[in-house]
Amino acid sequence: MKVLEKFNFKTLYAVYPMSAVVATAYDGENKAVMSLVWYTPLSFDPPLYGISVSPKRFSHDVILRARAFAVHYFHYEHSDFVEKVGSTSGRFIDKYKEFNIDFFLSPLRNPIIKGAFLALDCYYTEHFTLGDHTLIVGEIQRVYYDENFVEVKGDYILLKDKRTVFYAGMGEYITSDPKTLIKLRKV
Ligand SMILES: Cc1cc2nc3c(=O)[nH]c(=O)nc-3n(C[C@H](O)[C@H](O)[C@H](O)COP(=O)(O)O)c2cc1C
Repeated sequence: MKVLEKFNFKTLYAVYPMSAVVATAYDGENKAVMSLVWYTPLSFDPPLYGISVSPKRFSHDVILRARAFAVHYFHYEHSDFVEKVGSTSGRFIDKYKEFNIDFFLSPLRNPIIKGAFLALDCYYTEHFTLGDHTLIVGEIQRVYYDENFVEVKGDYILLKDKRTVFYAGMGEYITSDPKTLIKLRKV
């Protein structure tokens, strides 16, 4: 294998494709909406979820002021929406108006976007500065889902159509091919 001792993480697109989600928040004055690939579930119990947000994003301070955020998962057909909210800033435009975002406010006052198949309604628990990003951790209080895409079987919340949005870098999007699905363990 060849090696690069010097690299720019910003352009290290070989780590993609990565699943992309959309975070929202409302601080009582401003509504945030941004795309994310740097996110991670962190704990089963309590159900903790982390998002890594650059302080340069308008959404960064909105989320910290709101002390809550929601994370949305979309079907691949909504890739253009993920691109639009991830390439424009709430500092300059009202993305909710500009992109006709249909939403309602959760009990945590998070905007829940209606086109998502899954939305995790989180309240803020803590945040850490990690290099040039902030890892914002929230606890999931409730889960919204679209029955057309998600089915609930007992404790299991299952995705029927796995063609979700993946960011491939360089402004490109891709999804998974259901034909490649293999079951390697009986659950
Ligand atoms: C697919 C995609 C994934 C992104 N992932 C992240 C991320 O994980 N963290 C981050 O801080 N910004 C990420 N961004 C950039 C922000 O979404 C983008 O800067 C957005 O315009 C910020 O909006 P705001 O200024 O209204 O908060 C991503 C953008 C795209 C298109």
